[in-house]
Amino acid sequence: MADAVGIGLLGCGIVGAEVAQTLAAHEKEITQRVGARLEIRKVAVRNLGKDRNVVLPDSVFTDNATDVVSDPDIQVIIEVMGGIEPARTLILEAFAAGKHVISANKELIGTLGKELFDAADRAEVEFSFEAAVAGGVPIVRPLKESLAGESVERIVGILNGTTNYILTKMSEEEMEFGEALAEAQNLGYSELDPTADIEGFDAAAKLSILASIAFNANVVAGDVYREGITKVTLADIAFAENLGYAVKLLAIAEKVDGEIAMRVHPAMIPATHPLASVRDNLNAIFVEGDKVGEVMFYGRGAGGGPTAISVIGDVIDVARHIVGGGTGVRHASTGTAKVRPMNKTRSQYYVLLRIADRPGVLAQVSQAFTDNDVSIRSVLQEGFGDEASLIMVTHTALEQNFQALLTALRHLDIVEDVVSSMRVQSAED
Ligand code: HSE
Repeated sequence: MADAVGIGLLGCGIVGAEVAQTLAAHEKEITQRVGARLEIRKVAVRNLGKDRNVVLPDSVFTDNATDVVSDPDIQVIIEVMGGIEPARTLILEAFAAGKHVISANKELIGTLGKELFDAADRAEVEFSFEAAVAGGVPIVRPLKESLAGESVERIVGILNGTTNYILTKMSEEEMEFGEALAEAQNLGYSELDPTADIEGFDAAAKLSILASIAFNANVVAGDVYREGITKVTLADIAFAENLGYAVKLLAIAEKVDGEIAMRVHPAMIPATHPLASVRDNLNAIFVEGDKVGEVMFYGRGAGGGPTAISVIGDVIDVARHIVGGGTGVRHASTGTAKVRPMNKTRSQYYVLLRIADRPGVLAQVSQAFTDNDVSIRSVLQEGFGDEASLIMVTHTALEQNFQALLTALRHLDIVEDVVSSMRVQSAED
C-alpha cells in the first residue's frame, strides 16, 4: 500500500487555496479515510510572484502546468483554473499520462464533457466533477451512484447563486435589478463577467452536465434553451406574488416522448413548492424519478469553501481506489436521445396585457387564446380606463402555440401592450 498519494493542483485561486488549506487542516481524518496521506506535490499558477495565503512551501509552485500533469510522482490532478483552454489540453495530457482528474470546471465540462468522458474511459482513469455543479451541494455523485438504478424523469434546479440572490432582493426588498447585481458582485457570487450568470449561461452549463448524467445523454450547454433574468421587473414579481407564485431562474431538464428537453428561464413557481423557499445565493436541485418520487438537494452553490469540500470528496474517493483498488462509476454519455426543440415543450404561462377598457375586449382577447389552442386558467382585471390591465394564467400549452398567441395579441387593436409574459412551472405540467 502506498504511504501517500501525489496530488497536482492546476490553479490556486479561491478554490485551489481552500482545497490546500482544508487538506492540511483535516490531514489526520483524511489520511484515515483514504488509508494514505494526500500530498500536494506541485501547483501550477499563472503568476509565481503573487502573494498567496496558503500552507504550501514555495518549492511546490511552478508556472509550467505541463510539469504538473507529467510528473510521475503525481497520481491525481485537481483542475481549478476554469475556462476552456488550457484546461482542456492539460486534462487530456493528464489522462494520457494515466492520471485521474478532478475538475470544478462547469464551462469546460458543459461544453466538451463527452470528449473528456471518452478520453478518461480510454485511458482507464477516473474523471470526477462534483464541484462543477452547485458548488458544495452533492448532486453529481448522488445521480451517478445513489440514483443509478432510477429512471430520472425530470430535474428542476436553481443552479445559479447570483441570479437567485438578485431575484430574492427584488422580491423581498423591492431592490432594482442593477443594485441587486452590484451587491451580488461585491459579495463575490458572480462570474468575472456577470453575463454568464444573468443571461443563464452558467445555469445552462450546469444543467447540461446534470442531464448528461441523469439521462445518460450526449448533450452540451448549447443544447439548452436559455433566457436570462434581465427582463424580469419588480412588477412581474409583485403580480406573481399576488397570484401565489415566486419568480426563480429555473433550470429544467426532462424526458419527453424519448427526447431530452432542457431549458433555463425565469419562471413562476407556486409559493408552496420547496424551490420557492430557496433564498439568497443558495442552490437547490429537485429530482423526480419513477420509483423514488421527489428528492431535493439544497445548499451553497458557490464560494471557495463549499466548492473545495466537493473537490476534496472526489479526491478522497479517487485516492481510496488508488490505495485499495476498484474504480468509481464511469460516465460515458452513450445515449442517443435527441434534444427536443423548445417550441415542442409544454408549460403554463402568465401574460400581462395593457388593454383598452371597453365592451368586447375580453371576448377578443379570449378568441385569440382559442384560435391558438391555449386554454385560460385564470384572468384578472386590474385598474380601469387608461390604466386597465389583464393578468392571465393559462393551462398547460405548447410553447409554439403560446408564442403564436403573443404575436396575435400584439396585433389586436384593443391590446395596447403585451407588457410581459413568463412561464409558470406547476404541478399541472
Ligand atoms: N457564479 C456562479 C453562481 C458561481 O452565481 O452560482 C458558482 O458556479
